[in-house]
Amino acid sequence: MIDHADRPRTEQAAVSIHDLRVRFGDTDVLRGVSARFVRGEIAVVLGASGSGKTTLLKHILGLLRPQHGRVEVLGVELADATESELAAVRRRMGVLFQQGALLNSATVFENVRIPLEQHAVLPEAVMDRIVRTKLALVGLESAEAALPSELSGGMRKRASLARALALDPDLLLCDEPSSGLDPVTARSLDQLLRDLQRRLGMTMIVISHDMAGMRRTADRVFFLQRGQIAFTGTVDEADACDVEEVREFLSAAV
Ligand SMILES: Nc1ncnc2c1ncn2[C@@H]1O[C@H](COP(=O)(O)OP(=O)(O)OP(=O)(O)O)[C@@H](O)[C@H]1O
Ligand SMILES: [Mg+2]
Repeated sequence: MIDHADRPRTEQAAVSIHDLRVRFGDTDVLRGVSARFVRGEIAVVLGASGSGKTTLLKHILGLLRPQHGRVEVLGVELADATESELAAVRRRMGVLFQQGALLNSATVFENVRIPLEQHAVLPEAVMDRIVRTKLALVGLESAEAALPSELSGGMRKRASLARALALDPDLLLCDEPSSGLDPVTARSLDQLLRDLQRRLGMTMIVISHDMAGMRRTADRVFFLQRGQIAFTGTVDEADACDVEEVREFLSAAV
């Protein structure tokens, strides 16, 4: 059994957040969030709507700079990173946004190719091969010529995932990957994430409202509440947790 106090020495953090505070106008959204996301693990971040999950994700991505506190991602402290350091660390992150964010006028193939065109210096044929590999990984080979508007919701999520994987990220961030999907499609997306993590050893931070999905994928659960991490632990520890809101959240959707 690993003592919690030993963790910093025995498990490397992919993301380390210390006392992150964020205020929008008069509202304190994050009120001192501290969390370590361990390399090679799938972390699932839970919390009520509006609790600040996407805001937290945007700080990890470097889209928002910390107003107060520290955010270290893949060894880079974002608060005082230069633009080029920030760009370099972003290149190592893949993101599946809450709304999918595919370019509607481009085909699935072209969408997945965008990050390669922007960030990789590779021959055209190599880029094409990488795109096809990623589409095969998410089971979308046959949809490469489709426009996003011609896809189902589940296919759009998978296309976004293929794009997020284009540059072989060390860290994958997913904002509610299974929202809006039927339970069967949601389960196959969860299995895909789990499979990717096992095969590629990728670190993942997944924001979710889906308790069944959380149970299938999470190595560690983080519960965001009133701007702070009210609980962190394994799924079993979450089940045994006595924080009332955590219990309520878990039992609402078993
Ligand atoms: N750029 C912004 N400017 C002002 N307020 C913002 C901004 N971004 C988020 N907020 C506010 O911060 C709070 C947290 O928003 P956030 O999107 O992080 O919540 P969430 O936990 O992701 O919610 P959901 O589960 O609905 O996606 C909300 O009250 C929101 O209105
Ligand atoms: Mg959100």
